[in-house]
Amino acid sequence: MSSYLQDIDRSRVPAHVAIVMDGNGRWATQRGLPRTEGHAAGEEALWDTVGGAIDIGVRWLTVFAFSTENWARPPSEVRYLMNFNRDLLRRRRDELHARGVRIRFMGRRNWRIPRSVLQEIRRAEELTRDNAGMTLTIAFNYGGRAEIVDAVRAIARDVREGRLRPSQIDDEEIAARLYRPDMPPPDLWIRTSGEERISNFLLWQSAYSELWFTPVLWPDFTRETLYEAIRDYQKRERRFGGIAED
Ligand code: IPE
Ligand code: IPE
Ligand code: MG
Repeated sequence: MSSYLQDIDRSRVPAHVAIVMDGNGRWATQRGLPRTEGHAAGEEALWDTVGGAIDIGVRWLTVFAFSTENWARPPSEVRYLMNFNRDLLRRRRDELHARGVRIRFMGRRNWRIPRSVLQEIRRAEELTRDNAGMTLTIAFNYGGRAEIVDAVRAIARDVREGRLRPSQIDDEEIAARLYRPDMPPPDLWIRTSGEERISNFLLWQSAYSELWFTPVLWPDFTRETLYEAIRDYQKRERRFGGIAED
């Protein structure tokens, strides 16, 4: 294992790292390329990051690949992203499976996603469902507000059908109706490209996440950038509303 891992405390690696992979378009524009070339270049960054996360012992890695708001982009870019994510899964599924990764999706499945993409999602999930290694969750057609809206609808249904009393509604009942209820909240929440906003990513789950922003554009992100974030994370003091322990 390489030397840049030396100053990471291996007993305090964040269990769950979530990343907003942003800046692909700007990366391409800076090079005089079409925006889609930036998305293509992001693939290598993703695999290096996945490998780096596995090597350091991250148990959950969640990446934001397409938001419920990204449908507002030009149809040609949306179409590119749909096909790109489908093909990426096809290309990498076996490799991830061999590394023991459990691939999962989170987002609105039955809304707008082309059938061929859904099919590939299902295949990757089925192939890797029993893997005991890292869980790689791909947030796709995902929006934090949409997720909460869907949870509220599920609660309304349960109340109407007598399975739940309004007085029983609490944090846990809401969390149990999110897309991936068994997913622990992210410890470390990363956004690339210099934008310092949440953009609807894991709204409920990141209530107490440590946020980390970097100007690095996503295609330039590597496992070393991830380790830099983890080193910074290890210097933070998490209080969860309490007071510091000495
Ligand atoms: C992130 O890069 C990828 C997606 C949102 C799908 P962008 O495409 O948002 O790149 P910028 O932010 O325009 O540079
Ligand atoms: C967030 O990035 C979505 C993904 C990375 C998939 P955006 O580029 O869509 O966010 P805004 O528009 O800059 O807030
Ligand atoms: Mg962007």
